[in-house]
Amino acid sequence: MKVTAIKGFSDILPGEVEIWQRVENAARKIFATYNFAEIRIPIVEKTELFSRSLGETTDIVEKEMYTFADQDAKGSLLTLRPEGTAGVVRAYVESELFKTEPVQKLYYLGPMFRRERPQKGRMRQFHQIGAEVLGRGDPFIDAEVLLLLNDFFSATGIESAALQLNSLGCSDCRPKYRQLLLAFLREREQALCANCRRRMERNPLRVLDCKEPGCIEQTKNAPSILDSLCDSCRQHFEIVQRLLRQTAVRYDLNPRMVRGLDYYCRTTFEWTSNQLGSQSAIAAGGRYDGLVQELGGPAIPGVGFAMGIERLTMLLHSKRSPAPVGPVVYTVWVGENARDWAFPVVHRLRQKGLSIEIEGEVRSLKSQMRRADKLNASAVLIVGDNELDRGVALLRDMASREQSEIRLNDVEGALLSRKAS
Ligand code: HAM
Repeated sequence: MKVTAIKGFSDILPGEVEIWQRVENAARKIFATYNFAEIRIPIVEKTELFSRSLGETTDIVEKEMYTFADQDAKGSLLTLRPEGTAGVVRAYVESELFKTEPVQKLYYLGPMFRRERPQKGRMRQFHQIGAEVLGRGDPFIDAEVLLLLNDFFSATGIESAALQLNSLGCSDCRPKYRQLLLAFLREREQALCANCRRRMERNPLRVLDCKEPGCIEQTKNAPSILDSLCDSCRQHFEIVQRLLRQTAVRYDLNPRMVRGLDYYCRTTFEWTSNQLGSQSAIAAGGRYDGLVQELGGPAIPGVGFAMGIERLTMLLHSKRSPAPVGPVVYTVWVGENARDWAFPVVHRLRQKGLSIEIEGEVRSLKSQMRRADKLNASAVLIVGDNELDRGVALLRDMASREQSEIRLNDVEGALLSRKAS
């Protein structure tokens, strides 16, 4: 019987992977421009890292984590990372990066795991490109992170990305808003879904994030968090908006956007696309000034985002077909002497950086030429026993169909000069 992949986990095959590489390369380029360094963190962490960082009453921690017992430590649990921020902050605190340089601009790429119901654009193993800035609490860095994303979307040709912006206040003003919202919700409690009723007292802001039509209807006139911001949060948010206006980045305010994770404060944002169906968020993030301390470090602020690579590639799929793949040169040989001559030549050319293919099984000239076509080779090196006797090989350009004879001693030079041109 065939063994299949797990539901919600998928392969990224050649043909598809080229779009991924294009996205990843564009991201690395933009991160370099904005002076971010790469960080690589483990895929598995202690479960408590996520429950403490993301919040016990979030969907992720309540029901979506892949958690299992740690065989090496009785009673301890491990979890496949559902996101990257918690791990990056843990690494920052654990390595005491703040002692040498408190301001760290870090980025990461890799798989994340959430046991959600799979659907278009929603996977159980999905991939994020994320960034975290630690050590800066000023609004200029919030704007910088948003500008980086805006530039990334322009560079990759994603024109449908639209920015929604909110502020969630701070530990001074949020508790007051929480009380106001709770009072509002208590009056409508019976009309809310069971899930919202259950966690409303502990985390009333989650109700604003509920996708149940009844809850959306009940909360449409809920008090706005933007009316409850303290002076310092209001000023911070106004500067972020001023900087976006100055740099011509369009945005909409969305005071209902509370995000699905509890670590956020102040600026929060989501970039959505209307070309993705119901899973429309392509990137999201915000400020998390309390997280470093929550994970045992000093009071150091943070801000960041993550983009979903699956969703980015869906948008690019509908725009362009992937770049053709295949070797630059394909070697066609006829006769075993020709093959034995060609094999070490191909090896030397590869060592010099030329992409060139050669095969080992005897096949007809015609079938080898068809293979060269299929592989998208730009040129074919043809050598048969006849040519060998005459001390020559043939080089055929696949686009122009022109064919020339080259002396065997000149083959490497001629092919390498094609690579350079
Ligand atoms: P998030 O909103 O949970 O935030 O995820 C960020 C992005 O990851 C989403 O906008 C979406 O593009 C993608 N994504 C999330 N879940 C899935 C899924 N099941 N399938 C496919 N794509 C998905 C975070 O993860 C935060 N750590 C972002 C952040 C960084 N905030 C501050 N720093």
